[in-house]
Amino acid sequence: MMRIGVLASGRGSNLQALIEAWKLGELNGELVAVGSDHEEAQALKRAVEAGIPHGAFPLSRFSSRQEQEKAILTWLREQKVELLALAGFMRVLSKEFLQDIQIPVLNIHPSLLPSFQGLHAQRQALDYGVKISGCTVHFVDEGLDSGPIIAQEAVLVLPGDTEDSLSARILEAEHRLYPEVVGWVAGGRIKRNGRIVVKI
Ligand code: GRF
Repeated sequence: MMRIGVLASGRGSNLQALIEAWKLGELNGELVAVGSDHEEAQALKRAVEAGIPHGAFPLSRFSSRQEQEKAILTWLREQKVELLALAGFMRVLSKEFLQDIQIPVLNIHPSLLPSFQGLHAQRQALDYGVKISGCTVHFVDEGLDSGPIIAQEAVLVLPGDTEDSLSARILEAEHRLYPEVVGWVAGGRIKRNGRIVVKI
């Protein structure tokens, strides 16, 4: 069973989907740590309810971003995390953090990458006028939503969609896809060769 950690800044609905999959035994691992950069994050409350060790690392408690990241990394190591899943973590992790951590780091993004990287991906998709969007689970590298893609799920953009309605439809797909893909990675079913990721 792989020891899985999650970093989340806010609502934590993807964390909740991971918690539910874990409780159903579908994750090939166990959730052992939930960290946040916001003390008040709903994600931390979800961790408390699920009985998962949690930690808050608000920037205000540190002298720099670097010190904040160091504290997060030390804590993840203390929890012996072997796989890290970002779930709405609103900070771009530094190159140093990603080099030092030496475990796979995953992220879920609410668009079909490489389209619409960064913030407000659903609004970007609507403004661009695409007819299909979706979500992407990818390995995290030092760029912005630029790491190797593991899996994607397409979602229709419907006439009259608003940012809220499209976000809600994409979120349903996220909640299906993320636990499934975390389970693949935790179960050793992913092979990576440069940018190309294959499920075995
Ligand atoms: C999701 O849309 C995710 O794709 C993005 O941030 C949002 C987090 O939502 N990275 P939640 O906190 O999991 O509810």
